[in-house]
Amino acid sequence: VDNRRVLVRVDFNVPLHAGPDGQQTVADDTRIQATLPTLRELLRRNARLVLCSHLGRPDPKVGFDRALSMEPIGRRLAELLELEVRLPDEVVGDGVTKLVNDTRAGQVVLLENLRFEAGEERNDPEFARALAKLCDVYVNDAFGASHRAHASIVGVPEIIHDHAPGLLMTRELEALSRIVDRLEHPFVALVGGAKVSDKLGVLVALTERLVAGDAIAIGGAMANTFLLARGASLGSSRVERERLNDCKRVFDKAAARDVAVLLPVDLRCGGSLTDSVAQVIHVDEGVPEGRMALDIGAVTERLFANTIAKAKTLFWNGPMGVFENPAFASGTMAMAKAVAECPGYTVVGGGDSVAALNMSGRADAVGHVSTGGGASLEFIEGRELPGVTALAAWVDPTFRGTRPVEGDDA
Ligand code: 3PG
Repeated sequence: VDNRRVLVRVDFNVPLHAGPDGQQTVADDTRIQATLPTLRELLRRNARLVLCSHLGRPDPKVGFDRALSMEPIGRRLAELLELEVRLPDEVVGDGVTKLVNDTRAGQVVLLENLRFEAGEERNDPEFARALAKLCDVYVNDAFGASHRAHASIVGVPEIIHDHAPGLLMTRELEALSRIVDRLEHPFVALVGGAKVSDKLGVLVALTERLVAGDAIAIGGAMANTFLLARGASLGSSRVERERLNDCKRVFDKAAARDVAVLLPVDLRCGGSLTDSVAQVIHVDEGVPEGRMALDIGAVTERLFANTIAKAKTLFWNGPMGVFENPAFASGTMAMAKAVAECPGYTVVGGGDSVAALNMSGRADAVGHVSTGGGASLEFIEGRELPGVTALAAWVDPTFRGTRPVEGDDA
């Protein structure tokens, strides 16, 4: 990469918030921090860095949208790298080409939000060619976006054969492969969040890999539908009736393998998401009409924590309740503590669980904190990630991202 233009696809799709002066700033820079080893290594090797990412889901018909500009991200990155980050006001175009070609070794350019261009999500060959013209080498360090077959993810490496996974990408694949290929039992999957449909693929795929003694613990609003499938009364809680058969399928698959499916036995309930006091209701009593389950209860916290303590491998994705509201944060915080204290190998994925882990101050105690939400779920489900396949094909058709590239001393 010495003195060559290296295009690094990163996943800087991070939450922003408006400061007191109305200026947008990065609310959580976990994803930016996670790419620093790759960026610093490339800079150490005298690369001319061109970074690109999407941010949010802008309407490509509109083009530039100030609210989703990469500008606040460029500012944060400049602070972290202690370097100037040059930010053109377009993704591609003559001005960008000139800026990139004038960039010297050790300098950094961050392109505007890739999704301002309609060609990005369509994987338009012309847009991929325009990006490819900006570089000599391509690096994909955007694990979190590698389940998208977009131009910057799959189109560019088809053109730029001098390509490689970044250090974050490699770390993610290595860690998540331990859940896919090298599972040590007992394994515990702790799954939460709002919707059964978001996690169903993962639950079914995991259940098929599990053996007697493993467990799946389910919390969050998605547990309501599983409880309903077991005949519980849930009052006004959120349930997905159209998923009841899917829940039964998970129970049947788990029972056939002697795998425990742990559901809440007590719930913290409220009349609305913003209630400031939680009422504890035992599942056997049933949740009355007008009340809804918004967190797991203390008995469930202990039940899940005792199971987690015995895990040799653990995967956690999704909060146990509406943890943004302190009245319903206890379950998620208790799980963050239990996961941090688990003596086995622990992997946490998904924005909300990672945020909860960060809030609990225990992220350092976890084996791997994944920067991927949807991408980590699809990988664990056993689905091929287009971004990984796009790189792997040029290296070795059997490459799964866990083998160090020969001669790589990084
Ligand atoms: C994510 O946040 O999961 C990735 O950046 C992908 O974003 P997307 O779901 O908008 O494609």
